Amino acid sequence: MFTRSQVGLAHNYRLRATPQNFLTMPNHRRISRGLRTTALVTMIWLPIFTAYAQLPSYGVGLVPSPEEIEAWDLTIPPDGEGLPTGSGTATLGKAIYMNRCASCHGKNGGDSKYYLLVGGQGTLATDKPVPTVGSFWQFPTTLWSYMRRAKPIDEPGSFNSDQVYSVTAYLLYLNDIIGKDDILDATTLPQIRMPNRDGYVPDPRPDVVNTSESPN
Ligand code: HEC
Repeated sequence: MFTRSQVGLAHNYRLRATPQNFLTMPNHRRISRGLRTTALVTMIWLPIFTAYAQLPSYGVGLVPSPEEIEAWDLTIPPDGEGLPTGSGTATLGKAIYMNRCASCHGKNGGDSKYYLLVGGQGTLATDKPVPTVGSFWQFPTTLWSYMRRAKPIDEPGSFNSDQVYSVTAYLLYLNDIIGKDDILDATTLPQIRMPNRDGYVPDPRPDVVNTSESPN
């Protein structure tokens, strides 16, 4: 025989076990779990948002003008896109080199007492590689870009376009890549083929995607 309360329990149990109740119970739990999560997220983020909204404005900083962006946008890609007007020759570049470069790179760039810029061709695959403009650099445009950005070392970025073309021409001339009076400008510079143009291999790392097009 069942007592009254035992019958009540069994009755309750059966009630819960109806398909309808099975469906509603988990839903009910899911809703309350959702509410708890929302409350928790609000509790954590609300003070952060509030604090952020209360940050003082210092009134500093300006939106850069197109001219300012242009002044910073200095990189010249291998194909020479963006090279400015202007021109130069090795003859003109020699004077600049003697004044601003020779103290660190030697009179002709090829004296190993100094930081070498000339020579070394054919040494890269040997036990004693000598990387220089002539043996190592892949594109003349990259050299131009580097001259504009980084040189002269004590006043980087101060050369005008003619001076950059000229000093680049002098380095190429010292490396027997162009003639003394060949004119370098936005059209002729990208056409120069560096001796080590084909000495590079694509980066094999799987996460490195090379999207640049080879110009020559
Ligand atoms: C005060 C010394 C100093 C002067 C002056 C100087 N350089 Fe340099 N140059 C360096 C040093 C150091 C490096 C290597 C480190 C670096 O890249 O900054 C270098 C690197 C270079 C490179 C890269 C070489 C390579 O293959 O990696 C070139 C090209 C170059 N200089 C050209 C010039 C030219 C052209 C001038 C004159 C306009 C000049 N340098 C003036 C010290 C100097």
